Amino acid sequence: MKICATVAEIRSIVAGYRQAGESVGLVTTMGALHDGHLTLMRAARADHDRVVATIFVNPTQFGEVADLAHYPSDDDRDISLLKAEGVDALFLPEVHVIYPPGDETIVETTELANKLHGKVRPGHFRGVATVVARLFNICQPDAAYFGEKDYQQLQVIRKMVRDLHFPLKIVGVPTVRETDGLAMSSRNARLTPKDRAAAVVLNQSLVRAQKAASDGATVEAIGDVIREHIKSEPRATLRAVDIVAAETLEPVSGSLTSKIAIMISAEFGSVLLIDQREISP
Ligand code: PAF
Repeated sequence: MKICATVAEIRSIVAGYRQAGESVGLVTTMGALHDGHLTLMRAARADHDRVVATIFVNPTQFGEVADLAHYPSDDDRDISLLKAEGVDALFLPEVHVIYPPGDETIVETTELANKLHGKVRPGHFRGVATVVARLFNICQPDAAYFGEKDYQQLQVIRKMVRDLHFPLKIVGVPTVRETDGLAMSSRNARLTPKDRAAAVVLNQSLVRAQKAASDGATVEAIGDVIREHIKSEPRATLRAVDIVAAETLEPVSGSLTSKIAIMISAEFGSVLLIDQREISP
């Protein structure tokens, strides 16, 4: 695996692939890799001749300095995992490479970024769109792979790519779960054993919601099913249950007539976890 830290190096690597007629799939990460990330690498590999990964803990998407400081990081471990996965090239830049001194340019999907999780984490999706736009422009892949678990992030990136005419395809990859159903996340490593066991209520509540929807429940009744189940777990502090139209993330109500997305977030101790599910009528 080629490892590089400058824009010129990764561009020359990708240009080499292109000259050889090879297609390139990109997986952007903030490191602390888990099976969810490796699933994205495998999805990229299935579709492309070459897989490029990035590891960059993006400071502009963290509201709280403490959250950034606590973000787990182990480059040696991540590099071994990527090598084992057969990733062709890794871009591992420092902050000044992505945000050169004097930098002042931001990218924001002004509607999508500022609703739902964007309300609780102001500036978060602006930071995500800004860094992802830069990484796309630097790496110039044919397609980029993102987990559906970060549903709002995926929709923000899709919108940004559409609005700014980036010449690449965005592929959403279904959430990878532990055997008990907990969505994989780097944050899970910060849960205490008791909170880890309790966190399973997130997926359970989504499974119940799916069943209620299949039985013909209204949006309001589906919301009640989720809230009641999460509140039955004393270690969980429910933060949000959002039931929205899948693409626009606009609130919906009444009977299900088109595809919806349910996005939930809850705290376990000091760790905020999110989960998501798309449901068709
Ligand atoms: O999902 C993530 O890991 C990050 O938000 C991303 C897309 C790599 C941007 O920093």
